[in-house]
Amino acid sequence: MHIHPEFHRFLSRSDKEQLLGQRGIVVWLCGLSGSGKSTIANAAERVLHQQGRFTVILDGDNVRSGLNSNLGFTDQDRLENIRRIAEVAKIFVSQGVITFVSAITPRGELRDLARGLLGEDLFEVYVKASYEACEKRDVKGLYAKAARGEIQHFTGKDGSFEPPHSADLILDTESTTIEDAAFEILEAIRERIGQG
Ligand code: ADX
Repeated sequence: MHIHPEFHRFLSRSDKEQLLGQRGIVVWLCGLSGSGKSTIANAAERVLHQQGRFTVILDGDNVRSGLNSNLGFTDQDRLENIRRIAEVAKIFVSQGVITFVSAITPRGELRDLARGLLGEDLFEVYVKASYEACEKRDVKGLYAKAARGEIQHFTGKDGSFEPPHSADLILDTESTTIEDAAFEILEAIRERIGQG
């Protein structure tokens, strides 16, 4: 392939981090649909924003409505979905941005892919809630549709979900509030993002 990446010519990550007064990190929230990933990312981001931090959220549903609108929910498409999200997160973190990813990321293989691309910058959070709890909440009405057989490869039903074994943090949203969950993330990343 005739491409000539020239990262060294551009401003460095530390130039950007100095400007922003923070260090970049990727907080990757995985878990079932309706487990609370986006809600927690939103709550954590708002606190950071108030503290003068520069953040971004890459949300599965949102990214799938644009960049990844050509992808579905087969194993292969989910792999490509996660690969693209991880590559975009890598660009953001390389500019010093505190980056939240909120995507089901249902299998170990997908999380390994993200880890391979992001390495030490990845902070993996398992947003844990049982299928039954998510089904009860059913914020988007998807669980009812899945029960009626209207959604193929639905995660936790006929699409597999392998609970992560090596998450940096586990948040059980059946027993924690959104505020507490967000606070736990902020405490856990406090030193890594710097004083500000
Ligand atoms: S992932 O598995 O590839 O990581 P992602 O987080 O991007 O998934 O997208 C999940 C979102 O897509 C869910 O929150 C839900 O709104 C929607 N969705 C549509 N079809 C499915 C399905 N079959 N399984 C899970 N989520 C689905």
